[in-house]
Amino acid sequence: MRMGRVVWLLVLVCCLKAGIGAAWDGRRLPHQILLDTDVDTDDIFALLYLLKLNRSEFNLKAVTINANSWTNAGHSVNHVYDILYMMDRDDIPVGVGGEGGILPDGTILPNVGGYLPIIEQGNSTAGGCRYRQFIPLGQGGRLDRDTNYGIRRGFLPQGHRNYSPLRQPTSQQVMVDAISAGPITVFLIGYKSNPYAEFNIFEDPFAAYQVLHSGIPITLVPLEATNTIPITKEFFTAFGNSQATYEAQYCFQSLKMIRDTMFDNHFYTNYFMWDSFAAGVAVSIMRNKYNPLGENNEFAGMEYQNVTVITSNKPYGISDGSNPFFDNHATPKFNLQKGGVHSGHVQVGLQDPFCLVENGKGKCEDGYTKEVSGPDSVRVLVAKRAKPNRDNGSPLDREFFRSFLDVLNLPQQTGRFNFTTQFPYYKEILFRTDFSTEKFGIPVVFDMDMSAGDFLALIYLLKVPVKLIDLKAILVSGNGWANAATIDIIYDILHMMGRDDIPVGLGSLFAFDQPDPSFSTVGDCKYIKAIPHGNGGFLDSDTLFGLSRSLPRSPRRYTAENSVDFGAPKTTDHPELRQPLALEVWHSIAKAVEPGQKITILTNGPLTNLATILSDKNSSLLIQNVYIVGGHISDNKEKGNLFTIPSNKYAEFNMFLDPLAAKTVLDSDVNITLIPLSTQQKVTSFSAILKALQQTNKTPEAVLTRRLLSRLYHLQQKDERYRHMSIFLGEILGAVILANDHLLNPTIQVKPITLLATGDVSEDGQIVIDRNHGKLVNILDNLDPEAYYDHFSNLLGSKTQSAVIGSFYDQKRVWSRLNKTEAVEDSFSSEISFERRILDSPRLSRVMILILVLYPSLIIVTQLF
Ligand SMILES: *[C@@H]1O[C@H](CO)[C@@H](O)[C@H](O)[C@H]1NC(C)=O
Ligand SMILES: *[C@@H]1O[C@H](CO)[C@@H](O)[C@H](O)[C@H]1NC(C)=O
Ligand SMILES: *[C@@H]1O[C@H](CO)[C@@H](O)[C@H](O)[C@H]1NC(C)=O
Ligand SMILES: *[C@@H]1O[C@H](CO)[C@@H](O)[C@H](O)[C@H]1NC(C)=O
Ligand SMILES: *[C@@H]1O[C@H](CO)[C@@H](O)[C@H](O)[C@H]1NC(C)=O
Ligand SMILES: *[C@@H]1O[C@H](CO)[C@@H](O)[C@H](O)[C@H]1NC(C)=O
Ligand SMILES: *[C@@H]1O[C@H](CO)[C@@H](O)[C@H](O)[C@H]1NC(C)=O
Repeated sequence: MRMGRVVWLLVLVCCLKAGIGAAWDGRRLPHQILLDTDVDTDDIFALLYLLKLNRSEFNLKAVTINANSWTNAGHSVNHVYDILYMMDRDDIPVGVGGEGGILPDGTILPNVGGYLPIIEQGNSTAGGCRYRQFIPLGQGGRLDRDTNYGIRRGFLPQGHRNYSPLRQPTSQQVMVDAISAGPITVFLIGYKSNPYAEFNIFEDPFAAYQVLHSGIPITLVPLEATNTIPITKEFFTAFGNSQATYEAQYCFQSLKMIRDTMFDNHFYTNYFMWDSFAAGVAVSIMRNKYNPLGENNEFAGMEYQNVTVITSNKPYGISDGSNPFFDNHATPKFNLQKGGVHSGHVQVGLQDPFCLVENGKGKCEDGYTKEVSGPDSVRVLVAKRAKPNRDNGSPLDREFFRSFLDVLNLPQQTGRFNFTTQFPYYKEILFRTDFSTEKFGIPVVFDMDMSAGDFLALIYLLKVPVKLIDLKAILVSGNGWANAATIDIIYDILHMMGRDDIPVGLGSLFAFDQPDPSFSTVGDCKYIKAIPHGNGGFLDSDTLFGLSRSLPRSPRRYTAENSVDFGAPKTTDHPELRQPLALEVWHSIAKAVEPGQKITILTNGPLTNLATILSDKNSSLLIQNVYIVGGHISDNKEKGNLFTIPSNKYAEFNMFLDPLAAKTVLDSDVNITLIPLSTQQKVTSFSAILKALQQTNKTPEAVLTRRLLSRLYHLQQKDERYRHMSIFLGEILGAVILANDHLLNPTIQVKPITLLATGDVSEDGQIVIDRNHGKLVNILDNLDPEAYYDHFSNLLGSKTQSAVIGSFYDQKRVWSRLNKTEAVEDSFSSEISFERRILDSPRLSRVMILILVLYPSLIIVTQLF
């Protein structure tokens, strides 16, 4: 079943003084547009459509990203930078995130990040997923949107802008600069326990209510209107035949991929022109100066209706623990009215018993835009249906279809190149180092969650001579410190190091007991909610703290393409590129080991993948030893590292993120060596490791490692939100112990341990000594830190098994056949011209702004002076 992508669009038309489209100083100034988007695929269509409009009429002024829904902040911000670079619009500022919270008394701090709906927002960017859990994490969900189904990195050129910690402007900064007014955040979705809401307002019904009731005249482009513009076979064919520009190519390839990977054959009945249609309706409103409220829309029939947004369910005034605005507050948060429309039950999750009706469709209405009368309703202009094409000889049955294709294919304001045409000598090469004369060491599989420390451990493992360890495969879990789309950074590091032969398997995205029982692609976030979304959390992991884009770009990448080999119904252009799953990779490695040989596994993240592997008894027979980085042996003195869950003092992240999986592994009969937190903390001196790296050879991998570590170190010193950076530094230790323990003088103690996995977050993940029932585990107790720093940095500086291509800049130089001097000048002059353009752009005076909050899919047209 596909969860319908349902869109609810609002057009807020605010005329503070003059009419829209009015003439100033006797001449028309362009309409200034601010786009707020969650960077879902159809938002990209809308963005490109807006960028193609005549700039003397419509000028896109800024983009802000909504990080609370279909994409993740780090991936979406770089995606938008790439699109703008292709379109030669590096002058457009892009805002994402922000660290501001809401205090218990309702005080809203500046720079609220938009990572969480208002009802979940506390004083940090870590928090629950009450509404967002309805969006799938993997295929068909956030993984596909973050990568645009894998098309993005093959297609979009990469410019000079990218996310960088503490330098990236926040959404609010960009909005305030553009609008000189406050922030706007709104959202939504639908599911069986809630048959009423549409996919967009559900993400934050309370925010949607505030916007609707703000007194600003509003136009809605609701689902019932977008439902009248389904993608037809004729439109798809016509689109396939009109790809005169790079932007049209990018949109068509995306649409084709969605069609080809969609379950069943429901594309032509399930996929609609959502946000791009809304953009068209909004543009038509602005264009039509005699009908400022847009009754006479080019693309849609319009009508007035009285509506409201439901934020909580009747009966109002109950206190059942579901409503943080009222529960445990003497005075309700934000001074809301007791017994008022916000005081009922608020949906708490996928299987909320209050919302589920037996054999029924469910009864919760959170996020439902309901037609009502009476004092709590707001009169809005609503788009009812897409208008038919005025040219009835055309195979395209909607007026907007024609406009969309025409605009995207205009020769003006067009994309300059795609990734492959940017460089005259572009070539995709897979690197495979020749080890044919080597004798291979012990086979190792590395299971990681893509934290910064895991990437450093990976680089180290790739440097260990293959005669000592033979790195067979990398498995990835998506329920740790990074989102699944970050898998592309692994491909890039393997490419850099000449190891495109190593398979990468995508594993679990949820902790063991978190997926929804009836619909396993969605699920709760009981444990992963401990990881912040913003600074020091996902935003930074997903971008390797801003360094991911300096890595050479691998021809291998995540792609949603299905392969016929794997039983998919469709054929696509590159079935060989399909992303393998962790278990598939494991099975193929297991099958290939020589008789009598056993595999050693190193885990640097939650133990979900390992527990899944061990659930097959035959697998454990193939495993020699398991090295687990993580765990904290609680003696009720030294604290663990769960800094976001104060009630749990003694757990460590990797165990806490999936306590049931960790317990499964400890209960199995494999031999375990644990590298616990207390030992990791013995090797977390940034200054010592940086000093050692300073003295080693400047191989590309040593340079990258030093850049990353010094960035972590500086961030840690500079900002509170980065205090926990040593966690990542400690994570390298497991790889070093596995490969070269004899150099480090380790002491190992064997202790009987048990792990707590009761479901109580205040103790889940803690490890205790248990002399009666504990499992005997080798625990790394001590080592020689000086030897560790020296060995690590010397190995990284070694000339053997060194990078075959150092960086993205080296790669560009090769593809342009520039010599070193020219390449440096090229990148330098572009940086300068970029800075200059930013400085030279005139300050906004009177601005007309169109805000397409396309996730909450809210379009606000407002005018400021
Ligand atoms: C863009 O609009 C301006 C002002 O209305 C007009 O002079 C110009 O010809 C238009 N450009 C194109 C390519 O249509
Ligand atoms: C909110 O967080 C900030 C930054 O972490 C901190 O300085 C402040 O004390 C916190 N306020 C409350 C009320 O927790
Ligand atoms: C880039 O554009 C060229 C020329 O239009 C095209 O042949 C090529 O396939 C495009 N690259 C991608 C990745 O689509
Ligand atoms: C909407 O509400 C107004 C009063 O707020 C009322 O005059 C009008 O008749 C209502 N319109 C509809 C379509 O219900
Ligand atoms: C495990 O191995 C045994 C003996 O080789 C085999 O019969 C059995 O089918 C295997 N089980 C699985 C689940 O592969
Ligand atoms: C665990 O290690 C011990 C000692 O190295 C060895 O005798 C035993 O066979 C191992 N067990 C497994 C299941 O590999
Ligand atoms: C590199 O290119 C520059 C500019 O074309 C030229 O002056 C210089 O001699 C070249 N250097 C080498 C080593 O070829």
